[in-house]
Amino acid sequence: MEYAVETFDLTKVFVDKEKKGAERYVKAVDHVNIKVKHGEFFGLLGPNGAGKTTLIKMLCTIILPTEGTAKVNGYDILKEPVKVRSCLGWFHGETGGRSLYWRLNAEDNLRFYAYLQNVPKDVAEKRINALLEFFELSKDRKKLVKDYSTGMKVRVMLARALLHNPPILFMDEPTIGLDTISAVETRKLLKALNTELGKTIIFTSHNMFEVEQLCERIAIMKDGRIIADAPPSVLREMLRDVHAIEIEIREVNNISETIQSLSSLSIVRKVVETRNDSLSIIVRLQVDDEYEAIPIIASKLRSLGVKVSAIRRSEPTLEDIFVRLTKEGAA
Ligand SMILES: Nc1ncnc2c1ncn2[C@@H]1O[C@H](COP(=O)(O)OP(=O)(O)OP(=O)(O)O)[C@@H](O)[C@H]1O
Ligand SMILES: [Mg+2]
Repeated sequence: MEYAVETFDLTKVFVDKEKKGAERYVKAVDHVNIKVKHGEFFGLLGPNGAGKTTLIKMLCTIILPTEGTAKVNGYDILKEPVKVRSCLGWFHGETGGRSLYWRLNAEDNLRFYAYLQNVPKDVAEKRINALLEFFELSKDRKKLVKDYSTGMKVRVMLARALLHNPPILFMDEPTIGLDTISAVETRKLLKALNTELGKTIIFTSHNMFEVEQLCERIAIMKDGRIIADAPPSVLREMLRDVHAIEIEIREVNNISETIQSLSSLSIVRKVVETRNDSLSIIVRLQVDDEYEAIPIIASKLRSLGVKVSAIRRSEPTLEDIFVRLTKEGAA
């Protein structure tokens, strides 16, 4: 079967030149093998630096792999990069609209990019009209992009990715930096692109709930490797017996000693993370039973003289999945 995207031990090693000529190697993507079916909504989930953007950039022929290869719509990224590019649309969320010309209006931006994509003029005009309509930008088409909200800029960038009508879309964090309403709106549009127009979508995010809501299948990436590849229901099932609590610490003499004491409690499975908030230190723990754990932890902290402002149950997060997967030794 031919897949929309298929990778074969795809690997990228960056070489960072340090001072005094020393070299540091960063294995950003490490022998990744994924298969995405035509028409699938595929999620790539992972923390900062996991390798999501690097993987997508190789598939979009923006950077070359160090090792391995991939096929996009049946075309090899190394041997047929021009054909690969004609089949895909790329969206990079972190730019926050920077890749548009802010002193041009939406339709002129789209005309310019259609020209770069070699879309014939009459086809381009029809498509631009349809895209402005689809993304609800028709009435603002003459407004300069600099006067657009972030959500509107994102919609113009999505339209731009679709100008040459590619069957496959790489959407790298399209909801980053958006307020809740615009994020909901963007998710709805992506879903429509998939269900109504049949586009294959490869979508990246840090947000587990967003990915779960949209994607039929989720690959979890960490340190350049795929550590899980399953439908959301399967991942959810893995988290069924994960119970987590968060402790908000206001004052503590020795945080590492405190964490050690908490870890040694039999009710605590694992201290998942410790992070600093503006006023406090947040410690996240996985426990067997949160209702049983909360009073035991509270009294332990009291005996240690730690000042706590809150202890609460917490929804399972991406970190919890990582801990679970790593613990089970999933490759
Ligand atoms: N051009 C580069 N030169 C050197 N190292 C790089 C380069 N691009 C990425 N990296 C490194 O490769 C690793 C993977 O980065 P990448 O941007 O692919 O991660 P990501 O999963 O997209 O992260 P984020 O969620 O923050 O977008 C990181 O360690 C990053 O520092
Ligand atoms: Mg990224």
